Amino acid sequence: MNELIKAINELKKEKNAAILGHYYQKGEIQDIADFVGDSLALAQWAAKTEADIIVMCGVHFMGETAKILCPEKKVLVPDMNAGCSLADSCPADKFAQFVKEHPGYTVISYVNTTAAVKAVTDVVVTSTNAKQIVESFPKDEKIIFGPDRNLGNYINSITNRQMLLWDGACHVHEQFSVEKILELKTKYPDAIILAHPECKSTVLKLADVVGSTAALLKYAVNSSEQRFIVATESGILHEMQKKCPEKTFIPAPPNDSTCACNECSFMRLNTLEKLYECLKNESPEILVDKEVADKAVRPIRRMLEISE
Ligand code: 13P
Ligand code: SF4
Repeated sequence: MNELIKAINELKKEKNAAILGHYYQKGEIQDIADFVGDSLALAQWAAKTEADIIVMCGVHFMGETAKILCPEKKVLVPDMNAGCSLADSCPADKFAQFVKEHPGYTVISYVNTTAAVKAVTDVVVTSTNAKQIVESFPKDEKIIFGPDRNLGNYINSITNRQMLLWDGACHVHEQFSVEKILELKTKYPDAIILAHPECKSTVLKLADVVGSTAALLKYAVNSSEQRFIVATESGILHEMQKKCPEKTFIPAPPNDSTCACNECSFMRLNTLEKLYECLKNESPEILVDKEVADKAVRPIRRMLEISE
């Protein structure tokens, strides 16, 4: 393992590459990354890096976002099959048709979408800035929000809006069990429940804190509480535990206790071995059709400007 880490670091230096890792990556990938963050921070970091090569250890849409922001750079991903069930729940042709059927609507899309969906979007959001960006529009603005219905419902509820929602969801966040979280809460009444807004509203109702991965991490670090039940992909526990070794973090259990369904199977496709191979071979590389990228860059840049 140490040899592999050494070889990755050597290749990285030789090729002036930067490794970006999402909080849902395996711990060993988070540990070797130059920068670990949520999807907003990864996009912000990609937009300003001076590296020649970006290795995006996350999922495909994160690599695409980096490539759209830095078309002159080589953007690599350790495994091209690292997709996203939420992005898949919003096929670009169907979404474009939906947009066409609703003239006069502003289109707000979650970053967990393909470049083709972003190309028919007015402004992109992440879970960190969704509330701020929605509230930057007048109260009576007609808005389409896609693709995550849970995040959309949550933002509707906290901003008192009636955005029109696309009916998509993430297979990891949808399956947290209310009953099992309540069982844990009975066992540990002092525990604070942290939940990502992609969870179902029944789970969000139980939560003490709802926020993006970065927001949940920040809360855990700054809180004087000692025990937390965490309803999001369990990779975030690595950084939480690293930053707060004295606190206890309990992953919220999925409905089906026989599977590790609170892990994103796509995120977990990335391994140190694949990271090494990808740096060595400079492949797989993310490429985005120029016409699509030229349209998709505008709503991404608009998001970055609003969230500066
Ligand atoms: P964040 O925006 O919190 O990083 O979430 C990304 C994601 O894929 C959630 O499932
Ligand atoms: Fe997509 Fe869900 Fe995995 Fe996030 S956790 S990358 S939304 S499938």
